[in-house]
Amino acid sequence: MATVITFANVKGGSGKSTLCINMAAILIRSGYSVALLDADQQKCSQDWITGTKDRLLSRVEIIEPAEMVSVGDVEVDFLLIDTQGSLTKEMAQFLFQSSLIVTPCRVSRDDLVGQGWIEVFLKQSSQNVNKAPVLTVLNGVNKRSSILSHVIEQLKEDGIEVAETCISQRVCFAETNVNKISVIGYNKQATEEIVDLTNEALKLIKSEA
Ligand SMILES: Nc1ncnc2c1ncn2[C@@H]1O[C@H](COP(=O)(O)OP(=O)(O)OP(=O)(O)O)[C@@H](O)[C@H]1O
Ligand SMILES: [Mg+2]
Repeated sequence: MATVITFANVKGGSGKSTLCINMAAILIRSGYSVALLDADQQKCSQDWITGTKDRLLSRVEIIEPAEMVSVGDVEVDFLLIDTQGSLTKEMAQFLFQSSLIVTPCRVSRDDLVGQGWIEVFLKQSSQNVNKAPVLTVLNGVNKRSSILSHVIEQLKEDGIEVAETCISQRVCFAETNVNKISVIGYNKQATEEIVDLTNEALKLIKSEA
């Protein structure tokens, strides 16, 4: 049975697809088998994988949402689920079946409010028996900005699990999206950040198992 990681934030453009695809590449490089389910109608992540020339991404199996009855049916090590920037019934089912929910957040009020919606929804839903951890990842950051440490402090005070790894604002993330590749072999610093984030995610999943 696959370990499911779902990328969610009801705010669009927070970096769900970017983190999902790059983490998929890191997991493949680490020797895991990985499948992607793109639950977003825009199919940005699926398009990224389809026709990719990236030797790692080309090994990601695509699962069509319509084909899947239960995530337990997927026979890979990791199933990564990308979602759209809104909370739908279908997405709720994916959240309930996850081992980890990654919530990317820009340092912006809208993104942080969007993150809060996911937390509140999961806490209040009686169907959420699984109670997967939610890992909030600050994305597109300037690490020298004083507002970043302030936001992290505030989130932690509110009892939110914030990833130690923040993902910097780098043009390579947009470039690799356009070129349908991952940042591996394209940008060393970006790759290091994604590796660190993936290790944190795996550690959190293991500690909850
Ligand atoms: N760390 C980053 N640095 C620079 N650009 C980034 C970064 N993360 C994401 N981007 C860019 O921001 C845009 C939005 O990112 P992405 O598509 O991953 O967000 P999303 O949450 O999946 O959006 P949607 O809700 O529309 O699906 C893309 O153009 C992407 O290349
Ligand atoms: Mg997306």
